[in-house]
Amino acid sequence: MAFETKRLVWIAALLGALFPRAEADCLAPNKTQTISVLPNFTPGVKWQIEIQHTIDVTKPLVPKDALVWDIDLYHVQRHPEIISYLRSNIKDVVILCYVNAGLAQTSDCDFETVWQSPAYKGLLGGTYPDQNYQGEFWVDIRNRTARDLIKERITLAQRLGCDGVDPDNIDAFEQKVNGQDVTGWNLTAADYVPFVHELAAHAHSLTTARGHTLLIGQKNAPTILASISAALDFAVLEDCADAAHAPHSRPFCAAFAGAYARAGKPVFSIAYTPSLGGSDTSAVWGKGRCLAAGASAAEFAAEAEAEAGDAWLGKLSSVLKLLGGDVELNGCTQYCGEGPGRDVVDTAVNGQLDMDVCKPVEGM
Ligand SMILES: *[C@@H]1O[C@H](CO)[C@@H](O)[C@H](O)[C@H]1NC(C)=O
Ligand SMILES: *[C@@H]1O[C@H](CO)[C@@H](O)[C@H](O)[C@H]1NC(C)=O
Ligand SMILES: *[C@@H]1O[C@H](CO)[C@@H](O)[C@H](O)[C@H]1NC(C)=O
Repeated sequence: MAFETKRLVWIAALLGALFPRAEADCLAPNKTQTISVLPNFTPGVKWQIEIQHTIDVTKPLVPKDALVWDIDLYHVQRHPEIISYLRSNIKDVVILCYVNAGLAQTSDCDFETVWQSPAYKGLLGGTYPDQNYQGEFWVDIRNRTARDLIKERITLAQRLGCDGVDPDNIDAFEQKVNGQDVTGWNLTAADYVPFVHELAAHAHSLTTARGHTLLIGQKNAPTILASISAALDFAVLEDCADAAHAPHSRPFCAAFAGAYARAGKPVFSIAYTPSLGGSDTSAVWGKGRCLAAGASAAEFAAEAEAEAGDAWLGKLSSVLKLLGGDVELNGCTQYCGEGPGRDVVDTAVNGQLDMDVCKPVEGM
């Protein structure tokens, strides 16, 4: 199609990962796959992420100049009109659907029907230690059945009209408390590499409603960056400049800029900044409230500094968001490019819609 560009991704590592070494040696050398990407899906593209609550399609959309939107897959299944709302407001919008690739959570449309059913219940493991996330259960992604169920979520994204998927939680190996596994599965980085390659091959086998390849990104997981980035189309990072986030690989913004932005792939970066408004830790502002004045000069400067240094870091698509389990990734966003005290938007949402009935999807 006229608005597409083509890019090649290496799928060799997939072959090596899926088959035992002896068999991999017998396979044809590295193959490439053609991925068609919208031409404006490039490093530095403006984006918005709203996965906390359902976007309110009865309100005017802001910001209208964000070309990429990352929204929750199951908000879309409950309210498919979000897709047409975004498409009618923003020409050539690229819609990424957030897919939980590592855990099943009670709000997921497939939770009760699939994961909680007697046949699959055994796939549910431990939760995050954080009190805010007790309704999410790590799944054993080494298990073939679990992998197929996660791939069905990616297929659902394609059926619902998403342009790509943001697969969260591909790093159970980083979730340790006092060195002890909390996920229940003792999963390692080496377990996730073939898993992500399998998800990527599946996404790339699907064609979107708009006729291009379903995109798939890397969410955090700096430990496995070098093993998976070539097979993926973008990255979404949380706290990449924050020393506390991934203790053994900090900070990791630059590593992703080098692997993705340098290859022409967008890197979407989220910095959680309590001073932007009513975070969990804020006693001053109402919880979830978005301050038009933006994050404090100090917090803004810290993020700006994290992105200074080299040209590729300067190509990150960065947003500041509120901090706290049930306010994070809501509509409140400050963009970094304009400088401190500026460019704060609050995308209208309606949290009362979040748990509405999950609509059946044709062909699923
Ligand atoms: C295939 O790709 C892998 C991973 O990128 C690389 O290590 C290997 O050298 C490549 N093999 C060939 C024959 O190009
Ligand atoms: C994968 O999980 C399913 C569902 O719990 C179970 O029936 C099956 O035995 C598991 N497979 C392996 C290889 O453990
Ligand atoms: C995980 O590792 C711990 C410590 O080695 C062990 O006690 C536990 O049984 C393991 N769990 C699984 C599911 O393999």
